[in-house]
Amino acid sequence: MQQKIIILDFGSQTTQLIGRRVRELDTFCEILPYNKFPVGDETVIGVILSGSPFSVHDPEAFKVDLSQFVGRVPVLGICYGAQFISYAGGGKVEKADSREYGRANLCEFDGANPLFKGFEPNSQVWMSHGDTITAIPEGYKCIASTANVKYAAYASLSQPVWAVQFHPEVFHTIQGTQLLKNFVVDICHSNQDWSAASFVDTTVAELKAQIGDDRVILGLSGGVDSSVAAVLLNRAIGKNLTCIFVDHGMLRKNEFRDVMHDYECLGLNVLGVDASEKFFADLAGVSDPEQKRKIIGRDFVEVFNAEAQKIKDAKWLAQGTIYPDRIESLNITGKVIKSHHNVGGLPKEMHLSLCEPLKWLFKDEVRRVGRQLGMPEHLITRHPFPGPGLAVRILGDITPEKVRILQDADDIYIRGLREYKVKLSGEEARRVLAAGVPADMKDGEIEVSLYDQIWQAGTILLSTVRSVGVMGDERTYEHPVALRAVTSTDAMTADWAHLPYDFMAKVSNEIINKVRGVNRVCYDISSKPPSTIEWE
Ligand code: XMP
Repeated sequence: MQQKIIILDFGSQTTQLIGRRVRELDTFCEILPYNKFPVGDETVIGVILSGSPFSVHDPEAFKVDLSQFVGRVPVLGICYGAQFISYAGGGKVEKADSREYGRANLCEFDGANPLFKGFEPNSQVWMSHGDTITAIPEGYKCIASTANVKYAAYASLSQPVWAVQFHPEVFHTIQGTQLLKNFVVDICHSNQDWSAASFVDTTVAELKAQIGDDRVILGLSGGVDSSVAAVLLNRAIGKNLTCIFVDHGMLRKNEFRDVMHDYECLGLNVLGVDASEKFFADLAGVSDPEQKRKIIGRDFVEVFNAEAQKIKDAKWLAQGTIYPDRIESLNITGKVIKSHHNVGGLPKEMHLSLCEPLKWLFKDEVRRVGRQLGMPEHLITRHPFPGPGLAVRILGDITPEKVRILQDADDIYIRGLREYKVKLSGEEARRVLAAGVPADMKDGEIEVSLYDQIWQAGTILLSTVRSVGVMGDERTYEHPVALRAVTSTDAMTADWAHLPYDFMAKVSNEIINKVRGVNRVCYDISSKPPSTIEWE
């Protein structure tokens, strides 16, 4: 039986991060809405209550019946979770004089408490709260304080319940991972058996049992999620899996050819469909971004369906849906702000059941599973790429010539990012390692490529803009390209990446010299929000 930690989500921005940290401890966890605790589930070994945008005093604040799990399994309340445990037990939570945000130090803590095993004096923690706990319930004791927060952590005297006002899941809490390990491993007794290898073994066995001799269709995009899902299914059911990879003509330079080659080397049964002519014809003269997206979406479904229907007696549609696609995050009005998006659109008469073998995994875990399956590193660390491809990176209407210009410029940029190595230390190194990039730490430093340091990069052709330049003795009047590179953990928010100037100088020079049609290179320094990662 797979042990698990349940993380009850009260709507905090960092709930997913708690989940990732627990998984990094080789322990399976599920993030569930605050009111969906699986009562009676014997595999639950501990519960974590997340933070929340609410104050416990808000009329619409999320409340949970703690008796469902308190006294049965160990419980850890984080931020709002800590405030709620106090409030529900008769303690006091009040508005802080000023919102506490940022770094603080645990100037006092109970080193004998198992939650603080291995903690250094004055350990740095990260606070982010508007309310503060001014009295804890009877039967509890204070186990840590900062200069400004008396009840930075407290614990029950009689039951396995702990509460921390700070956020152990964020990087700025230096010993946060140690604290979560103390809770998950020492207190909840996780046997730490959740690993890429165990996931592959169990999932392959489950897929064999679930699918038997049925035939399965899977849409490949060249991205890591669908590729890993395909290789996993291939291991389970072999030739009964048929993959469909549609080329809409707006992939990166040589991508269709290269990725098809990779898939064939992996032994996948792939139907590569070159439908670029249809897409270009239908997009001719269309400039409106939404209109372009709609045409591509519609054409994609048409082409995919036509191929899928040729696969007689298929019973399953497999997808590379991953966990963050499915987690229901609650915003302050209680509405779902991110929900599961399906590829959708397959004809109902095909009666296909959905198979999503990666639906429990975070992105970094998908990468680890890919490595476990022996997939090539360049497929595994590939940046996310939008379904409509370069179409959302060409302003204005789309022509094969514009796609060619963009492909050439983008190829120089992406190759440059892969070739340029940087040394990282501290939080940056930890962030990159946590994202699943393989690198050895030496003297506190890792060496990775710029490509692996960032979440995503791409080139945008500003084909509605022209500017004057000079090349040799000739005046040019051509288009600029914008380079975009962002750091992110989930694409919901993103910061522009601070790429080195010497790298930008080299790449812009090479693009302008080699790519006919481009005479200027800009760098996009907007963050998300308020901008988005893609331009259209
Ligand atoms: P935005 O531009 O909304 O993008 O900040 C967030 C992430 O989603 C990717 N993206 C897409 N992925 N189909 C996809 O499969 C799409 O239509 C699409 N649009 C944006 C984008 O590349 C980024 O990773």
